[in-house]
Amino acid sequence: MSDARRRAVIFDLDGVLTDTAEQHYLGWQRLADEEHLPFDRAANEALRGLSRRESLLALLGDREVDEPTLETWMARKNDYYVASLADMSPADVLPGAVELVRDAKDRGCLVAIGSSSRNAPLVLDKLGITQLFDAIADGNSVERAKPAPDLFLEAARRLDVPPQDCVVVEDAASGVDAALAAGMVAIGVGPPDRVGHAHFRFDTPADVDLDVVLADA
Ligand code: BG6
Ligand code: MG
Repeated sequence: MSDARRRAVIFDLDGVLTDTAEQHYLGWQRLADEEHLPFDRAANEALRGLSRRESLLALLGDREVDEPTLETWMARKNDYYVASLADMSPADVLPGAVELVRDAKDRGCLVAIGSSSRNAPLVLDKLGITQLFDAIADGNSVERAKPAPDLFLEAARRLDVPPQDCVVVEDAASGVDAALAAGMVAIGVGPPDRVGHAHFRFDTPADVDLDVVLADA
């Protein structure tokens, strides 16, 4: 890869820069309990990275619910989730995450957020890291959620960097699928059974080695 080539690293937010999986889980569990829907931690694992709507549809399984009820339930879960972020602070950035973003910038890469969450701006603000990024694409930016490539393509468009020159850091299987579908280099953070289909895999954000990734990309 030539040094003159403009490259970018696009970061997923939930599960890569901070761990909100527990708050999302507790929000869905409360809704499920109130509506007598079967749900537990194991079922929640399948929701990682899915949009709010896709998460609720997965939770519902075969149970049919009309659109107004879906909207009400999504709003209720979101109220629970947002309330649970009240105490979120810069201390909730995952170890090594800010260092990884700064490392990418020090290497001359542009950096963006590519998050399915409509709450991404709020979470970034609470973590105190909004200003680190050159562009932010979130759940409000595109129609089709991950595993569609749209969100990452939109982040690349906002950075004005071609997709093939973008690297994505993701913790969810659907996010790795989206990065691959976008024609980008995929870094998976997490266990092989979740993100083993990425081009590169590391156990945690602190383990991500951009030397290895960018040398090969
Ligand atoms: C993803 C999370 O980042 O955002 C999912 O991994 C979540 O768990 C999705 O469902 C949508 O988030 P929100 O904040 O728009 O409901
Ligand atoms: Mg994630």
